[in-house]
Amino acid sequence: MKLKIAVLPGDGIGPEITEQSVRVLKAVAERFDHDFSFDKAVVGAAAIDLLNSPLPEGTLELCKNCDAVLFGAIGDPKYDNDPEAKVRPEQGLLRLRKELGLFANIRPVKTYQKLLDQSPLRPERIAGADIEIFRELTGGIYFGERNTAEDGISATDVCTYSVQEIERIAHLAFKAAQKRRKKLTLVDKANVLETSRLWRKTVTNLSKEYRGVELDFLFIDNAAMQMILNPTQFDVILTENMFGDILSDEASVIGGSIGLLASASIGKRYAMFEPIHGSYPQATGKGIANPFASILSAAMLLDHFNLTEEAEAVRKAVEVSINHNICTPDINKSSEYGTKKVGEFIELNISDPDNQIINDENVSLGQMTII
Ligand code: IPM
Ligand code: MG
Repeated sequence: MKLKIAVLPGDGIGPEITEQSVRVLKAVAERFDHDFSFDKAVVGAAAIDLLNSPLPEGTLELCKNCDAVLFGAIGDPKYDNDPEAKVRPEQGLLRLRKELGLFANIRPVKTYQKLLDQSPLRPERIAGADIEIFRELTGGIYFGERNTAEDGISATDVCTYSVQEIERIAHLAFKAAQKRRKKLTLVDKANVLETSRLWRKTVTNLSKEYRGVELDFLFIDNAAMQMILNPTQFDVILTENMFGDILSDEASVIGGSIGLLASASIGKRYAMFEPIHGSYPQATGKGIANPFASILSAAMLLDHFNLTEEAEAVRKAVEVSINHNICTPDINKSSEYGTKKVGEFIELNISDPDNQIINDENVSLGQMTII
């Protein structure tokens, strides 16, 4: 298959981690005989510094001319700490989502047997958790009217949703549930918010088309608690933009590191793949950032184009890496493996999955010399 992939490394650790997922995708192309090409462009703070815009026209143009976008991370503390800043890196990502019509953000959360002890939650509570969060991505309070009053003593952000916006993502979530454990939980705040009541009504109506899927509802405050108390109760979670943002960061605790969570953002025409973590400025350039989330996002890219065997090969390689403790320090404190080494290990595992050295006991003993 021929695929044109736009690579937007972005800020902070973004460039280091996307370098690894590109490495992995190249190994996939080589082994499975595909033709993947990669074109880079700037976004976020890096783009403001260079071109005075968080999403330069050239970057948007490139994304629209590619089959998929691989996105790194966005954000810079110099803007976080300046409430007066008129231009912000995050605006680049938000505009990109809107311009590409990426209305559904899919964030899978699962546990790895080997990492159960990594989570601050009790292993017996999280073992077996396997959740797919469907977060609406181009509506709600993120994109409503906003303003600060002239006197500067009040500000407004409006949250709006239409039936059509709710339906299009709900269809995808129901379909995903059909292929999984057939349970869909709508998370909202219908006891308070008008928009949430519209979500409930719309999703309930739609559920008649998906009789095999059990639909239930949770208020966001309760859902946040249930996510920690009993995450195995969830299968597919459907929720609006901001609740999904918050709930997915919380859910990352289950996996043991936010550095493990990948995501796919899907629209009618375009698709983008990005880790859910931020730009982690404290780690920038240190070579310690976890590339798994970006690499697993690349696996979701492969899935999107029905390259299932290829996607599985990537996920399998990540699992081998975890099982052999070839992980960055966020997972294995005493690890001597950095971002690049982990990426190289996965690359090697994909190019040569039967390699004895990879599967050898030496790896787990930390005596592997090939990387
Ligand atoms: C995410 C991020 C973004 C969001 C930020 C960087 C704008 O937190 O993708 O979860 O809030 O959507
Ligand atoms: Mg977030």
